[in-house]
Amino acid sequence: MADQSPAWAREIARHVLADALPGRWVHTQGVAAQARAVGPLLGWNTDLIETAAWLHDIGYAPALAVTGLHPLDGARYLRDRTNAAPAVCTLVAHHSGAVAEAAERGLSEPLLAEFPLNGHSGDQVIAITYCDFTTGPGGERLSPEKRITEILSRYEPDSPVHRAVQASAPRLLGQCREVTAALRASKRA
Ligand SMILES: [Fe+2]
Repeated sequence: MADQSPAWAREIARHVLADALPGRWVHTQGVAAQARAVGPLLGWNTDLIETAAWLHDIGYAPALAVTGLHPLDGARYLRDRTNAAPAVCTLVAHHSGAVAEAAERGLSEPLLAEFPLNGHSGDQVIAITYCDFTTGPGGERLSPEKRITEILSRYEPDSPVHRAVQASAPRLLGQCREVTAALRASKRA
């Protein structure tokens, strides 16, 4: 059976990130904690979203980085080197506006051909993106608006990441605001 438990994912992420990229490892732990905290309130498949949260940034690890598009590198590693369930690979491939960065890097075709999105995975991509965009570099909680400002400040204006985040920010912020509204409603209920 394909692997997709959070405990399995945590150990892969620890293995590739903890020593090589300790900052990403701290951020990753915060994103996973956010998935675990809000998933049950929103009716998410919390195990799946937490699993994707643990794995979403493994493509930054030097041992895995091939194309420079970390969602694609991470998803390919999971597909080719682990027994990851296809749903997990899809979420890693598409988290946090990966499509926009793929376009900047000329990698839209392989991303979409190898990891096609279907209607159901769209909502789950929004879930993992929300967890990522409400978690800062140190694992702290912050608003999606502040997170996007923080990302833009870390990358040069002409870098693919900066351009992609700037282009996709209105769409991603709109999605995050809908999740925030649903979360508020769930707490009132
Ligand atoms: Fe990421």
